[in-house]
Amino acid sequence: MRSINNITPRRRGNDEVPESLQEALGARLVGQPAAVSSIIPYVQMYQAGLSPDSRPAGVFLLLGPSGTGKTRTVESLAAALHGSEKHVLKVDCGEFQMEHEVAKLIGAPPGYLGHRETHPLLSQARVNSVTSERSSLSLVLFDEIEKAAPSMTRLLLGVLDKGSLRLGDNNTVSFERSMIFMTSNLGAREMMRALVPDFGFQQMTREQAAPDVETQLEKIGMNAVRRKFAPEFVNRIDSVVTYQPLGAGAMSTILDLQLAEVQNHIDNRLGLRGFQVKVADSARDFLLKRGVSAQFGARELKRTIHRHLMQPIASLVSSGEVEPGAVLCAESSADAETLTLRSVNEPPRRRRISDLRLAS
Ligand SMILES: Nc1ncnc2c1ncn2[C@@H]1O[C@H](COP(=O)(O)OP(=O)(O)OP(=O)(O)O)[C@@H](O)[C@H]1O
Ligand SMILES: [Mg+2]
Repeated sequence: MRSINNITPRRRGNDEVPESLQEALGARLVGQPAAVSSIIPYVQMYQAGLSPDSRPAGVFLLLGPSGTGKTRTVESLAAALHGSEKHVLKVDCGEFQMEHEVAKLIGAPPGYLGHRETHPLLSQARVNSVTSERSSLSLVLFDEIEKAAPSMTRLLLGVLDKGSLRLGDNNTVSFERSMIFMTSNLGAREMMRALVPDFGFQQMTREQAAPDVETQLEKIGMNAVRRKFAPEFVNRIDSVVTYQPLGAGAMSTILDLQLAEVQNHIDNRLGLRGFQVKVADSARDFLLKRGVSAQFGARELKRTIHRHLMQPIASLVSSGEVEPGAVLCAESSADAETLTLRSVNEPPRRRRISDLRLAS
């Protein structure tokens, strides 16, 4: 039985050692060392003030199967760099499939109908809004780039090349203090077929794959990218990172991270009414079996935890069946169809604040 307490900061002797950016990113992004080692040098170049002029501080294309951590990479870098996953300017390219939708990114030129009402989505203010006191580097994410209309890549060409974008009102947005990330599923189906020839819905582990799998996946990804995008676009990308399907060990670590988030959420929201959740091995297997697949990677894990753990916990709390300070144990039912929850010991009696005052 494991408790799902927070991951503690690393200690050396009596001193708490601040995590390096690389460690902070690696702790949040599981099993994708190539992504960490490709991105970090560009952040360090920026921090050292040595990024090239007149272009973004780094341009990355993140490729690979669903649920392997592409979007999570940028959110995790934001958390490591700025202290919150929310410090990302995210453009969901699925919302820009038509040419007129792409125009919303830069706003209408003066004189055009609706000019005053349309605020460009890629304004300098929005780019700057995702920086923080800790870092002036903004992270800009074009998620699922293959879904966008062709004019999006034309618009991006200038951004990647000159680090600037001319808006409809003729103002210029600078991306010199930005890192641009584009994610894509291009080639992902083919990658899955190469990994699991009879690719279905079974759980796949990386151990099943051939030893040269990484090069093979990179080749498939790059071929798909070259088929979709013009050479001048591909040439402006600093680094193409191919994400690997996650093995059983990585999935188990991701489950640990997400269960730690559940405990944090309970602690933060319920305060003194909080309790501890312990998850038995049988319950872990239950969650992994339902939340992890070759097709969606770890994508469904959060939803599975929400449905099978968080909702039943909420129901117990709302009916007053969980004592503050209790230890709640989650186990798989005998027929492995649901999770069962029970208090494993009597809650230690909490002292009231007034008692503490009297005792002192
Ligand atoms: N490598 C990973 N490390 C930690 N968590 C992960 C990882 N991969 C996936 N996850 C978990 O799964 C969820 C989905 O991952 P993410 O959104 O990064 O997938 P993706 O690769 O962008 O997939 P898609 O191509 O479908 O957009 C994340 O929110 C995270 O909780
Ligand atoms: Mg994604």
